[in-house]
Amino acid sequence: MRTIDWIDGAVVIVDQTRLPAEIVYLRLETVEELVDAIQRLAVRGAPALGVAGALGVALAARQHSGAEPRARAVHLLQTARPTAVNLARGARRAAALLPSFDAVLQEALRIRDEEIASSAAMAWRGADLVERLCGPGVRLLTHCNTGGLATVVDGTALAVVFELYRRGSLGGVIASETRPLLQGARLTTWELAQAGIPHRLAVDSAGPFLMARAEVDAVILGADRICANGDVVNKIGTYAHALGARAAGIPFICVAPESTVDLSTASGADVEIEDRGAAEVVGAAAPAGTPAVNPAFDVTPAGLVTAVVTDERVFSGRADGADRPAVGGDRLDPAADPA
Ligand code: MRU
Repeated sequence: MRTIDWIDGAVVIVDQTRLPAEIVYLRLETVEELVDAIQRLAVRGAPALGVAGALGVALAARQHSGAEPRARAVHLLQTARPTAVNLARGARRAAALLPSFDAVLQEALRIRDEEIASSAAMAWRGADLVERLCGPGVRLLTHCNTGGLATVVDGTALAVVFELYRRGSLGGVIASETRPLLQGARLTTWELAQAGIPHRLAVDSAGPFLMARAEVDAVILGADRICANGDVVNKIGTYAHALGARAAGIPFICVAPESTVDLSTASGADVEIEDRGAAEVVGAAAPAGTPAVNPAFDVTPAGLVTAVVTDERVFSGRADGADRPAVGGDRLDPAADPA
């Protein structure tokens, strides 16, 4: 099952707002329909958003013959959500081939295929690293959803979990629920159950305590943007897990494709953090009209990140390598990295 694809002239997605209750596919035939799906998180997760942005440009190429309406449509796509770099990047890459619909679509499908290949590379590279750092029987905590639903197939951090399970190295996995939209509780538990992997669900705030009580050997999660200085921008709650991991002295590992590494953004301070408004937080629990602040993402400083695993490399510190000597300078043992 692919989370997002181009089928018979339309973008087809699994509607993630309906999971885990039911699997519903949506056929999106216009840019406006796709932008709406992106904004209500029917399609979500940085790599999947990159594919969505690029396929959206194919919709725009077909919908509009004039340069101006096409440019407006591309802008709508690029800005549908601000934080994950993949969305604007995917749309920009495809838009470079306008006005040719065929060329745009081929480029979008190339991005889809690159993300599929990236997932496979991250899975074995990340599993090698976790085995090296933690040994067999590792007990992991993961946050938000980083499985096939967030990419096209397999995922990023969750692909590593799947691979460790296949290798017989996984001792357990805890999914944190990911308030307020519950990507962990609704989507990660569903994907783990589909794969037959035993797991437990915890409220977000239990993470650091479970780490302190030595019930977790490492934290593994994804990213929406990795900045030049190595700061990791990811789902709100990530920073608290990173602080917990540091206090407990356990590895904090981020798994993301190179398409999420953004060397043009100096640090997390330069990233627009999406605020999704009060309704998601206030819900049915708080008195109606309660003001709220609802950052959908946070920034984990590079210094709290043990390692970033991409489809091409494993690194710690800066993503642009400016803190490493030019030759043989990876702080992790490069001999153990097959790339
Ligand atoms: O708001 P979302 O659900 O799009 O946020 C997704 C995340 O924060 C994921 O952790 C990130 O995109 C990595 S997905 C492989």
